[in-house]
Amino acid sequence: MSALVSGYQPFPFQLDHGQGDRVFDDAGRSYYDYYGGHCVALTGHSHPKVVDAIAAQARKLLFYSTAGELAIRHQAADALAGFSVGAGVSRVFFVNSGAEANENALKLALKLSGRKRLLAFDGGWHGRTLLALSVTDDPSISDPYKDQLVDVQRLPFADLEALETVAWSELAAVIVEPIQSMAGIRTAPEEWFKRLAQLARAHGCFLILDEIQTGMGRLGHPFAANWLGLQPDFITLAKGIASGVPMGALLMSDAIGASLAPGDLGSTFGGGPLACAALLATLAVIEEEGLVAKAAQLGQRFKRELPGIWIDRVRGEGLLLGLQTRHAASQLRAHLYARNILSGAAGDPNLLRLMPPLNLSDDAAQSLIDVCQSGPM
Ligand SMILES: Cc1ncc(COP(=O)(O)O)c(C=O)c1O
Repeated sequence: MSALVSGYQPFPFQLDHGQGDRVFDDAGRSYYDYYGGHCVALTGHSHPKVVDAIAAQARKLLFYSTAGELAIRHQAADALAGFSVGAGVSRVFFVNSGAEANENALKLALKLSGRKRLLAFDGGWHGRTLLALSVTDDPSISDPYKDQLVDVQRLPFADLEALETVAWSELAAVIVEPIQSMAGIRTAPEEWFKRLAQLARAHGCFLILDEIQTGMGRLGHPFAANWLGLQPDFITLAKGIASGVPMGALLMSDAIGASLAPGDLGSTFGGGPLACAALLATLAVIEEEGLVAKAAQLGQRFKRELPGIWIDRVRGEGLLLGLQTRHAASQLRAHLYARNILSGAAGDPNLLRLMPPLNLSDDAAQSLIDVCQSGPM
């Protein structure tokens, strides 16, 4: 036993290193990583271009807060805004995690609207800080703090009629995941998202799209906002945007960005040069390796070729997929693990989640398909 307080039940092996779409344990066994370190290894593990960029930046300047102007911070913000083109969010504030991105978006919406109420959805997952936890639908982690959480209205996800029952002009913000990942890769029809955006816009309620899992090309589109044809007020990002260097971002409309004064937002480590170098390298790899198109193609292939003896249906988009299993998902998870493939569980006991690197090799893709078509041991 070490002194470590661990947050999750770890995999039953000691990780040693990672390379591309695989991780290796300390006994030399390798696993195709369809879990992606929890949807983080966007460009694979230790991509050489990302590693080189981090090493070069570390030698130059490891860290300086936003009290120091840094060209690389501006370049990273411009590159991220450029990648989001069409989503209506042209200004960027950097933070360190998903919860911090959502916390800041929710706080800004409360301040800028002068309103007090928030709207969220059943099954939504937005983080563990108190405001992010307030909009998260996970009583197992929120109940102990229920007296400290803010009052949030919650609607059933994907229910078109429910949207019409809301007093929209009293709301500061609505927060939604384009695909609810933790809840089991659940999405809603485009018309539901369009109506949600329309009602929010018409009544001055800020729309926050939590793209912490769906963003950066994972769905086969730069962002889910592009996929759904939405122009939200905020897009929140984290997970793989810097290929594993901790980084979050708050993308916002030009109007919101222009209304902020120095000091309205702050974060000591947010936008540090190391993370900015990793983000720039991540975006370059996505571009050079055509990873947005690749995510779309692989997603289509898995939807065609995975259903069979184990899997009834594949839900999701691009490389954020849910395998709807014929029996308990834990059985398929064990079957995959025995054949060196890591996958992710979900709240739904009949669903396994895949959130692999976007530059998945053909070997990794074919292995998954073969294993899913092979019988139980
Ligand atoms: C959709 C979504 N939003 C927010 C978060 C919180 O991110 P973080 O753990 O970086 O605070 C997560 C984490 O899993 C997430 O999946």
